[in-house]
Amino acid sequence: MAVSVYLVFFAVFLAIIFIVHRSSRCRRLRLPPGSLGLPFVGETLQLISAYKTENPEPFIDDRVNRFGSLFTTHIFGEPTVFSVDPETNRFILQNEGKLFECSYPGSISNLLGKHSLLLMKGNLHKKMHSLTMSFANSSIIRDHLLVDIDRLIRLNLDSWSDRVLLMEEAKKITFELTMKQLMSFDPCEWTENLRKEYVLVIEGFFSVPLPIFSPTYRRAIKARTKVAEALSLVVKQRRIESESGEKKKDMLGALLASDDHGGFSDEEIVDFLVALLVAGYETTSTSMTLAVKFLTETPLALAQIKEEHEQIRAKKGEGEALEWSDYKSMTFTLCVVNETLRIANIIGGIFRRTMTDINVKGYTIPKGWKVFASFRGVHLDHEYFKDARTFNPWRWQNDSGATCPANVFTPFGGGQRLCPGYELARVELSVFLHHLVTRFSIQANWKLIFACKLVFPTVGIRLKKISWFSFQLRGHRSDIPSMCSVEIVSKPCKVLEQKRKYCRRTVIL
Ligand code: HEM
Repeated sequence: MAVSVYLVFFAVFLAIIFIVHRSSRCRRLRLPPGSLGLPFVGETLQLISAYKTENPEPFIDDRVNRFGSLFTTHIFGEPTVFSVDPETNRFILQNEGKLFECSYPGSISNLLGKHSLLLMKGNLHKKMHSLTMSFANSSIIRDHLLVDIDRLIRLNLDSWSDRVLLMEEAKKITFELTMKQLMSFDPCEWTENLRKEYVLVIEGFFSVPLPIFSPTYRRAIKARTKVAEALSLVVKQRRIESESGEKKKDMLGALLASDDHGGFSDEEIVDFLVALLVAGYETTSTSMTLAVKFLTETPLALAQIKEEHEQIRAKKGEGEALEWSDYKSMTFTLCVVNETLRIANIIGGIFRRTMTDINVKGYTIPKGWKVFASFRGVHLDHEYFKDARTFNPWRWQNDSGATCPANVFTPFGGGQRLCPGYELARVELSVFLHHLVTRFSIQANWKLIFACKLVFPTVGIRLKKISWFSFQLRGHRSDIPSMCSVEIVSKPCKVLEQKRKYCRRTVIL
């Protein structure tokens, strides 16, 4: 007994010494104000519990109120400086590779593969980033990708049964689109089996990354091996075809044709493909789902977007594919997409590590520290967006009179790591909304409880939170409180008319 009391006192004594030493060091360094919390755990528990509340940015809001838009904290085992300041965020993004670098823990690298674009640095990163950009730029989308985006989304919507999990369908759509863009595969049994393994890999990003304790992480590592094996068979086959002169105009074709460093190895190509599959998957599908959610909560916006798409449809024949000019005429849809990305982008910001001591806004961030540039914190700041926490797509209209300073709206990041899929994601979202609103009428009398994710890419943690939006719960779905249920009534169309005039569908977000 006496020994244990002694141990407790000793531990408390050590903790006090630790805190005193740490805070005097912070004062010496002129760190941004803030609190490093408890020894070792820091403020990680506050962060986790904050996101279980009904506020969109509870952890950040609280600290911005107390310390300002640049503050120090300690999360996930490391001291970290949070920036909710657009100027500092821009500084972080623009100094990639010079003052800041991305850093992911080994557990994430194991799942991504060591040759992933997300992990690359220096000249190789520059080269591969521009290769990816050139593959997903506007003219490639216009001339090659749009036709498949339109066709595959239509196909997916055709397959909807009476009850649809919207988020799941959105994920399926984005996976199918990426498989087509990367390797020219249309959806088939093989792609569906690959998707099942791939979903297990994605789960691994959001699990405790310790194989001994986490079956999810163990399963993810196994699934990653299976995905890599399946993709390397494809790469081998395509290499043979490419050598015999048969070339396809997709990402894999571009990688096989590259003669840099004597060409890429199969392993490098597979890692690269996996990274692209990962990067566009949750991001685009969540945005699709949230756009539908916001529209159903904002009947005026829903009516306006419907009108825009009905007008496009009216000029086209039944089932005629969308063209680039149609996409370009979706001006209000672009406002909806921007507003969705502003208010609820699942990439709330980006982590970086300082490569040297950094002086910013009169403070010093020591070498080796983590920084988090919060995009969502800025997007939800009333200083930059009037009534910032309200979904208002009209704010993006040219004649709205609202001005948004440059670098304040950064859903796709910026600088050397600007998302190469920024245009592709917008096109995919717009085409999805086009087919959804012209083929279904969404009833607004639904209610839901929404489960949403907070992604910390560098630590691979996903927290579930109950969203801050207010919902009603449809009676028959109260058994699944973590999902949202939307009743959708499909409009009479030729195919469906043959079966029955109206087909009721429940879509679960
Ligand atoms: C709504 C959809 C999307 C959002 C919000 C989004 C957002 C972002 C953001 C913020 C970054 C910067 C990460 C950083 O700086 O560390 C990023 C990077 C990236 N995104 Fe996206 N993205 C989306 C869709 C896509 C799609 C469809 C693709 C497929 C081509 C894609 C591919 C990538 C890649 C490869 C990177 C890494 C770039 C690099 O590290 O050089 N993204 N994305």
